[in-house]
Amino acid sequence: MRLDRIDHVGYAVDDLEEAIAYHRDLYDLTVLHRERMEADGVSEALLAVGGSYIQLLEPLTADSPVARFMEHNGGPGIHHVGYGVADVAETLAHLRTKGVRLVDDHPRRGSRGCTIAFLHPSSAMGVLVELVEDPR
Ligand code: CO
Repeated sequence: MRLDRIDHVGYAVDDLEEAIAYHRDLYDLTVLHRERMEADGVSEALLAVGGSYIQLLEPLTADSPVARFMEHNGGPGIHHVGYGVADVAETLAHLRTKGVRLVDDHPRRGSRGCTIAFLHPSSAMGVLVELVEDPR
């Protein structure tokens, strides 16, 4: 079990188009990928920074987890950190033996065809952590 990289940092945003324009105007970042993830209640855009991404997340509905996060947070902000791993299932099994509280008991499908799983912030230094297995 090894963390290979910071795959992405997920930002909760009010308005995806505004957030994309902000990153384009300030940092000259362009959108590599867009996807509407109904299961997660978000519309997302990925911007590349070196070998990692910024993942912009706009909630699709007022009761989606990202919308509730922004309510609790007092607005937009850092929502989660994604760690790149070679095998999410194996990593989850390892963390389970360490007593880590999981949001996802089993790997599931994320955007760009990745396999993902979330760890609970209460077991991860107060940070929502996502494990990401990228097929690329
Ligand atoms: Co993510």
